[in-house]
Amino acid sequence: MSTDTLFAAETAASAPVEITIRRPDDWHVHLRDGAMLRAVLPFTANQFKRAIIMPNLVPPVTSVEAAASYRERILSALPEGSDFEPMMTCYLTDHTTPDEIERGYREGVWRAAKLYPAGATTNSHAGVTDIAALAPVLERMERIGMAVLVHGEATDPEIDIFDREAAFMEASLLPMLRRHEGLRVVVEHATTAETIDIVRAHASHAACTITPHHLVINRTTIFQGGLRPHLYCLPVAKRERHRQALRKAATSGEGCFMLGTDTAPHRRGAKQAECCSAGIFGGATALQTYVQVFDEEGALDRFEAFASLNGARFHGIPVNEGTITLVKKPSTALAAVSVEEEDVVVFRGGEPLPWSIGEIRP
Ligand code: NCD
Ligand code: ZN
Repeated sequence: MSTDTLFAAETAASAPVEITIRRPDDWHVHLRDGAMLRAVLPFTANQFKRAIIMPNLVPPVTSVEAAASYRERILSALPEGSDFEPMMTCYLTDHTTPDEIERGYREGVWRAAKLYPAGATTNSHAGVTDIAALAPVLERMERIGMAVLVHGEATDPEIDIFDREAAFMEASLLPMLRRHEGLRVVVEHATTAETIDIVRAHASHAACTITPHHLVINRTTIFQGGLRPHLYCLPVAKRERHRQALRKAATSGEGCFMLGTDTAPHRRGAKQAECCSAGIFGGATALQTYVQVFDEEGALDRFEAFASLNGARFHGIPVNEGTITLVKKPSTALAAVSVEEEDVVVFRGGEPLPWSIGEIRP
């Protein structure tokens, strides 16, 4: 080896790997309210410039007024100096009217509407019982260019929990895509290879979000050494082949795949319980996890598309101006976040993570 080559190799080894991208957005976040909101918001606001805020509060955010006042509560809970922008959503029910949907959209209160099949997940009992009957609302959304965000799981308790996403896609999503060819549809937190194929085949008007945890765990991880309640979420993680398909899709650079953490905090007592609540608090380690996956897949050059470009383009809004730098420098994730007398366990909390968050330029 010549001295020149040696020198080049040494420089490469000593310079930390880092990547600077436009500031990212999170297209699927549960911020909750009150003390929980104050505890978890700083983590999302530190990582992301904007986020789509899920409306599954108790009671759910079904009106323009409720969304506007929730937005105010989020803004007043922000850390001093934060420029984070919450993007609100409307919780669709059997009683949502096309006029209310359009009013909230025109007034700039909400960006999208969330479709929970009734009973599919946490605080979804007020959701939609008959998607076909929602046609007038979806037609109006199609006309005004507002996206619908879909929790894609069938609710029939007879259907095996690992098959509920696939069952929903066949019975509900495909008919909906056919009925509303101009409606922009985001399949939330995709977990199967088949969902990825469906989204790809309808990429002119469909997209999906992919969470950090579904890129890292499979259904076996939930049972590793015992039952791990903090890895239980909905849709539940699937087999390894699905995780591999999600990793390929997220890192493909294709415009229909976007970042959405589905960070869903529950107090420790609600997770380590006789009946564990569904949801993983991934908000504090999201970017570190995603960038690690892109690094492992040899796709760091495509990270910006997934994290910062695809979502904004799909929703027809400008991409962010500022930048964030991620550095391949080990950091240890915070184990848990205090909320009043309790805490919320952080996804990958307490573990050494190979990547850290570096400089953020607004
Ligand atoms: C979410 C929650 O806790 O609000 N839970 C989850 O497991 N992801 C709801 C949801 O997005 O399904
Ligand atoms: Zn969610």
